[in-house]
Amino acid sequence: MGSQWGYDRTHLRAKHEGYRSRAAYKLLEIQHKFAIIRPDDNIVDLGAAPGSWLQVERTLTQAKVVGIDLNPIAALDGVETIEGDLNDPEIQKKVVTMLGVVNVVVCDASPKLSGHKSYDQARIIELNEQALAFACKVSKQGGNFVVKSFQGTDFPELYAMTKQHYYSVKTCITRSTRKGSTELYIVAKNFVG
Ligand SMILES: C[S@@+](CC[C@H](N)C(=O)[O-])C[C@H]1O[C@@H](n2cnc3c(N)ncnc32)[C@H](O)[C@@H]1O
Repeated sequence: MGSQWGYDRTHLRAKHEGYRSRAAYKLLEIQHKFAIIRPDDNIVDLGAAPGSWLQVERTLTQAKVVGIDLNPIAALDGVETIEGDLNDPEIQKKVVTMLGVVNVVVCDASPKLSGHKSYDQARIIELNEQALAFACKVSKQGGNFVVKSFQGTDFPELYAMTKQHYYSVKTCITRSTRKGSTELYIVAKNFVG
């Protein structure tokens, strides 16, 4: 799966299986390894467009699923969506009103990359910190959090920061991640509250 051929194959598989993007397999793998979503969990998905994670989440829980993205998300049965910035406090309030209790926050958001490695890395970590702050603000004690990040100089600090808020924190490099990519996910369970 790590090769370019594997990458293309995953893309075709996603198309064949009706997923909006190949990213679906990353969440399925994380769920398989870490069981982050339970059947009665309310979920907030940050950076959710085009919506393949939302499709997966809809099958994993019978409770509420809300997706947030800067871009519009095409309608999906049983999923509510918000167009906006995950860092907007009004959106954070709206999520709490919509869900009441938030059990799981996932974030697959990526900023637009400039091509300047150190700038892009700093921007990604900033977005990750915003997602962590969002999760800490809205989550129920015991809740779970997943965020996409990239290995680099600022990553250890983000990891340490996440450990201050969750009892169990691990990293996961998924099989469908492109070869040569530094992408990895932080999987944090059991929010301290
Ligand atoms: C890789 S895509 C997510 C794919 C998605 N998980 C799926 O399965 O379809 C990254 C998304 O993050 C969104 N994004 C980036 N920064 C954001 C922000 N500050 N607030 C909300 N969404 C953001 C982008 O608009 C983009 O749609």
